[in-house]
Amino acid sequence: MKDPDLDNALASNKTYGDVAVQHALFSRLRAEDPVHWCEPEGFRPFWAVTKHADVMEIERLQDKFLNAPRSKLFSIAFEQQIAALMQGKPHLVRGLPQMDGTDHRSYRMLTQAWFQPKQVKLLDERIAALARRTVDELEARGPACDFYGEIAVWYPLRVIMMILGLPADDEERLLRITQAYFGGSDPEVQKGSDLIKATQDYVAYFDGVSEDRRRRPTDDVASLIANAQVDGRPIGHYEASSYYVALASAGHDTTSATAAGGVLALIQNPDEWRKLQANPDLVPGAVDEMVRWVSPVKHFFRTATEDYVLRGREIKAGQNLMMCYPSANRDEEVFADPFAFHVDRNPNRHVGFGFGAHVCLGMFLAKTELQALFRELLARVDHFELDGAPAWVQTSFVGGLKRLPVRVRMKEAVAA
Ligand code: HEM
Repeated sequence: MKDPDLDNALASNKTYGDVAVQHALFSRLRAEDPVHWCEPEGFRPFWAVTKHADVMEIERLQDKFLNAPRSKLFSIAFEQQIAALMQGKPHLVRGLPQMDGTDHRSYRMLTQAWFQPKQVKLLDERIAALARRTVDELEARGPACDFYGEIAVWYPLRVIMMILGLPADDEERLLRITQAYFGGSDPEVQKGSDLIKATQDYVAYFDGVSEDRRRRPTDDVASLIANAQVDGRPIGHYEASSYYVALASAGHDTTSATAAGGVLALIQNPDEWRKLQANPDLVPGAVDEMVRWVSPVKHFFRTATEDYVLRGREIKAGQNLMMCYPSANRDEEVFADPFAFHVDRNPNRHVGFGFGAHVCLGMFLAKTELQALFRELLARVDHFELDGAPAWVQTSFVGGLKRLPVRVRMKEAVAA
C-alpha cells in the first residue's frame, strides 16, 4: 500500500495529539496493511507493525530483533544532530531500551530486584500515603482543577523520586526536565526546551546526585547506580547517566498519563465508575484496562538481524520495525469490542507494558501506584465531570493528556 499522506501522518507528532485521528490511522493499517512499509518525508523508512500477534512475535524473538541501534523514531535531521553531538554514537543516552543480549541482562539485573512484586510490596504503605496526599491536594483545590497538570503529574514523580532517594525540593526541576524530554514537538509542554537540552539537564542533575552517593552511599536506587559494577568494573559515566535518565523519565510520564487517561475514561463511561464504586475489588483489572486504553507508550523500534517473514511481508536484515502499542491494544482479533472501556475486561492481554526481555521494568510499581490512587479516589470522590475540553500531548513516543479540566464533588461535601 502506497500512501505518502498516511506515512507522514504516522511519523508526525501532531497525529498523536488527537486520539481519534491516531486510532483512525491505526484501524486503517490493521485492516489494510498490518505490516506496512512506511516512508515518511524526513525520516528513514521502517515497517509499521500494528497487530497484537505481530508485536508479540517481534518482542519474543529478542535475538532476531534488536533494540539497538534504532530504538525510537527521530527525524533524519535530528539523528544527524545527535551523531554530531555524541561523536558518532546513535543515542543521547544508552539505557536499558538501547541495550541487547548479555549487556542488557547485566544492566537490568542491577536494579531489577527493586521493581519485583516482593520489593514493591514493601513500599505499599509509603505509596498509599503519597496517594492520600494526592487526593488531599485534589480536595484542597476546590471543586475545579486541571486533573493532569495539577494532580496526576505530581504523584508518580514523587514515587520515583522516593525510590531514587531524591529530595522533595527537586520536584519542580525534575518535572520540568521530564516534560521537555517527552514533549515531542509540543511547544506548550516543552516550554522552550527540547530533547537534547532536557537530556543534558538530566545528566547535569544526576552527576551531582551520583557524586554525593559515591561519597555517602545510602539504601536508595541512586546509590545502587552510582556504585554499580558490571563484570567486576564500575560502570562508566555515560551508562550511569543513561540509567538514571531511563528510570526518572520512564518512571514518571507514563504513569501520570495513565492516571489522567483513566479518570477521563471513567468520566466518559459513568456506568464503569459506578461499577467500580460498588466493587473496589475491580480496581486491579480496571488499572490494566486503563493501561490498554491509554497506551501511553506509542512505540518502540527493533532492528532485524536477519531476513524474516512477518505476516507474509519480507523484512530484510538491517531494516527497522516500529511496534505500535496503541494499535496492538485495539486489535479486534484479540479484544472483544476494543473501543469500549470495561473495568472488568477479562481476559485483557494488552501489551501496554511491552513483553519479553524488555518488558517494562516498572510494571509492578506502576500498577501498585495506579491501584493505590484509584482506591483513594473511589473512597473519597463522589463524582467527576468534565469542565472543558481535554487536550493531548503532540508526541509520537510517550505521553497522553496534557490538560484535563474537571469538576470534582467529594463524598464528604455530599454528606455535609
Ligand atoms: C503505566 C505506566 C507505564 C507504562 C505503560 C510503561 C510502558 C513501558 C513499555 C511499553 C516499555 C517497553 C517494553 C518493551 O520494549 O517490550 C517500557 C520499558 C521500561 N519501563 Fe515502563 N511503563 C510504565 C511505567 C514505568 C515505571 C513506573 C518505571 C519505573 C522504573 C518504568 C521503567 C521502565 C524501564 C527502565 C524500561 C526499559 C526496560 C528494558 O528495556 O529492559 N516504567 N515501559
